[in-house]
Amino acid sequence: MYICICHGVTDKKIAESIDDGARSMRDLSKELGVGSQCGKCCNCAKKILNEKLIDI
Ligand code: FES
Repeated sequence: MYICICHGVTDKKIAESIDDGARSMRDLSKELGVGSQCGKCCNCAKKILNEKLIDI
């Protein structure tokens, strides 16, 4: 599912990025561009990040 329309980033891409070491929205933004344009994806991306970080 697409999370960030502006940059064409899917939830899978975000999960992969976290597996590769991203630990914050800043990391995700730097790596994938998530949240760096309209910002509408921030809440959803944050949710994925928090859920994934619980498992680490
Ligand atoms: Fe992610 Fe616009 S949808 S910055």
